[in-house]
Amino acid sequence: MSGLVRPCGARPAACGCGDLTPWQPGVNDVERFVVWGGQRLSGTVSISGSKNAVLPMMAAAVMSPELCALKGVPALRDVSVMRQILERLGVEVGWHPDGTLEMQARELGTCEVREELSRQMRSSIFLMGPLLARAGKVKVAYPGGCAIGPRPIDLHLRGLEALGARLRERHGYIYGEATRLRGQEIHLDFPSVGATENIMMAAVLARGVTVIRNAAKEPEIVDLQNFLNGMGARVTGAGTDVIRIEGVRELGGCVHQVIPDRIEAGTMMVAAAVTGGDVVVSGVIPEHLEAVTAKLKEAGVSVTPAGPGQLRVQGPERPRATDFKTLPYPGFPTDMQPQVMALMCLAEGTSVITETVFENRFKHADELRRMGAQIKVEGRTAVVKGSPVLFGALVEATDLRSGAALVLAGLAAEGVTTVEDCCHIDRGYERLEAKLGGLGARIERSGPAGSVSALP
Ligand code: EPZ
Repeated sequence: MSGLVRPCGARPAACGCGDLTPWQPGVNDVERFVVWGGQRLSGTVSISGSKNAVLPMMAAAVMSPELCALKGVPALRDVSVMRQILERLGVEVGWHPDGTLEMQARELGTCEVREELSRQMRSSIFLMGPLLARAGKVKVAYPGGCAIGPRPIDLHLRGLEALGARLRERHGYIYGEATRLRGQEIHLDFPSVGATENIMMAAVLARGVTVIRNAAKEPEIVDLQNFLNGMGARVTGAGTDVIRIEGVRELGGCVHQVIPDRIEAGTMMVAAAVTGGDVVVSGVIPEHLEAVTAKLKEAGVSVTPAGPGQLRVQGPERPRATDFKTLPYPGFPTDMQPQVMALMCLAEGTSVITETVFENRFKHADELRRMGAQIKVEGRTAVVKGSPVLFGALVEATDLRSGAALVLAGLAAEGVTTVEDCCHIDRGYERLEAKLGGLGARIERSGPAGSVSALP
């Protein structure tokens, strides 16, 4: 069975070899979204499973020889790349059209994650903990991921060394060995999501008890805890800043339903807000969205419960300018900063946006300026002077969430916006154009520039 999904996120035929085009950077990813502005979105959109929950859980499956199944897995480029990594390690992986991903690591053929895959996303680093725990060795190239800062991995490495791993770095690779990891008290300098998850996974098969202090508290970490415990691990405290892991000798299999993607949900909420629309986002966990909901309400957006797992979002004629600062969960999520900046570009008044999590996450400001936005960036602060209108333009997606923000701006702009390099967006949004189209947006995916008429 082919392990790939098309770059557009189309799913392979069930159990068929499919005619799926392997994604090759720089070859078949020269795609664009063309967005015609001016449509008020309306209707209901279903939210897919969480990318940032699925990726560490896929890595965790390496630790068990039994069958693990994840339900509600989105067809995303990052999931496809992680699948390729697992298959190269010797894990049997099966994908079903209903979004069920089956994985079984009966035995591992290798413990090496090669550079051509590792560099395509940040999540390849999640293989370190599981491979050290299962096999006592790992070789992984430095990870890639969104260009939103230097993205160091020192907290990951220090945590794994504290558990007894012997690590060395050479020619862009990290080599690790461990006879058997042993439990330890670990205090993170920063509540890093990835480092918390990597250490959690390494600790589940360690001898003794591990306590992670100043742990990240994101919902995706709680989901990982639930998945690991389903496999027979003994993890408690996820969702708080102290996580306790009691090591066990081995793990079994399990079936786990992935939580909904709170960032996709927030993105769709901003799509409703920025077009003055009336949209229900369905299949969400409202408490995961509290910081986003509060900020949208402050900006004059109506957000009301619409039934179990549903929120109704009604955009104002024009949003109010609102200041916000990104923080680790439960603060305002950094992954929603570009999207809400796009909304603030149309607000009445001036907004001050502070990005405290990543060092360089304002690249979308340059592209929004091409659309007429008035944004001044000084270090980690952006000052946005709202305009009554944005204008369609040719802009470039520089990373996943910046790309999504440009699509949102295009939905509200006068004229046509072409968002280049939508491959970044496909990493984290499943069939974005189909979901927005289902709400009344006019958005098309196209190949090289000019292949789609830019005229209405
Ligand atoms: C996860 O990245 C998410 N990715 C990111 O989502 C998200 O923005 C981020 O958490 C924060 O919520 C996945 O879960 C796959 P961090 P991660 O470690 O783990 C510094 C998206 O758009 N740091 O919490 O890489 C780091 O430089 C992506 O879906 C170190 O200094 O984030 C950053 O400034 C983008 N040393 C801060 O911590 C380390 O060893 C937060 O990083 C690790 C991190």
